[in-house]
Amino acid sequence: MKVNGQHFRTIWLKPDDETVVQLIDQRFLPHRFVIEDVRTVEQMATAIREMHVRGAGLIGASAGYGMYLAAIEATARSTTVGIDEQLARAAAQLKATRPTAVNLSWAVERQLGNVAKGKNAKEKVGLALRTARSIADEDAEHCRMIGQHGLELIRQLARKKAGKFAMANPSGGGPINVLTHCNAGWLAFVDYGSATAPIYAAHDSGLPVHVWVAETRPRNQGSKLTAWELGEHGVPHTIIADSAAGHLMQRGTVDLVIVGTDRTTSTGDVANKIGTYLKALAAKDNNVPFYVALPSSSFDWNLRDGLKDIPIEERSADEVKQADGWFEGQQVEVRVAPERSPAANYGFDVTPGHLVTGLITERGVCEANEKSIRALFPEQAL
Ligand code: MRU
Repeated sequence: MKVNGQHFRTIWLKPDDETVVQLIDQRFLPHRFVIEDVRTVEQMATAIREMHVRGAGLIGASAGYGMYLAAIEATARSTTVGIDEQLARAAAQLKATRPTAVNLSWAVERQLGNVAKGKNAKEKVGLALRTARSIADEDAEHCRMIGQHGLELIRQLARKKAGKFAMANPSGGGPINVLTHCNAGWLAFVDYGSATAPIYAAHDSGLPVHVWVAETRPRNQGSKLTAWELGEHGVPHTIIADSAAGHLMQRGTVDLVIVGTDRTTSTGDVANKIGTYLKALAAKDNNVPFYVALPSSSFDWNLRDGLKDIPIEERSADEVKQADGWFEGQQVEVRVAPERSPAANYGFDVTPGHLVTGLITERGVCEANEKSIRALFPEQAL
């Protein structure tokens, strides 16, 4: 996607030194656009843990590149520990960074499986590089395809809306209003985004869309990241407080909700940023279609009960008690709660499949239940 008119992915290899990974350091957005050089698996683990990079797809791609850096380091180091053992340690280190997004372990396992096929150190580094590139390229391509399938849904809604309004008001029904939560935009993937891909596709095809962007306390991925990237692409949008979503749905000003997911079970339960579940409940009560957009790398084929089985990340209480922003040319942090009050910070919640209208994947749209998901992905045997 574009930043200041220039095309960027969120992660790539440094053009003049392919032993360095470059990424957009999201901690500084929307105030500053900072590119970070990552040279070691340790640095990549920090970048994931401390949320320089974030979002399911990008966490997976970062882990893929992290394993490539680990392979380079392992071959350069003269040690009695074999390269496979060093890679196994790097894999464990990366997997421990964040618990909820399944793309992380998926990417690391894919790397371990492929690198094991190398007969010597040079071959292993080559395989790790190829795998890291494939993970990133596939992520971008799958999101692009999600955009095409989601565009069809938005077109159908636009036709329905125009038809409904044609009787009462021949000037038409206005833009399609999409509500989204957190950032499942291109910043959360390698390109396009999952929840935003249909929005970008609609906007680019000339279909008027407007996005309600839920701010997403405590880290404000909505107001900081989604609003920024929509703005860079020229998509009309409005930031709302998280708690305003139900009100807007009751007033009929939301045509559909599209969110992303960090992990979705084979039965259609959806883990996503905290606050998603409440939006799904409000959508159900108001007959607003509630879609979840995801590449297949965000399915956890081994889990059946999202509420019981998906690990929910708990983060520092400081994220709730403090807020950061831009003041007189500097990024500053302020406390917004009594110093001595305790706070709890659950990063994600689980929306049961029965509250989800449909899943938008790279293969098309399916219902959020096991039969429909498996029909789209028959190779994922039970
Ligand atoms: O904690 P984050 O920012 O890594 O949260 C993950 C997310 O971006 C959201 O939950 C998102 O909606 C789904 S991941 C594409």
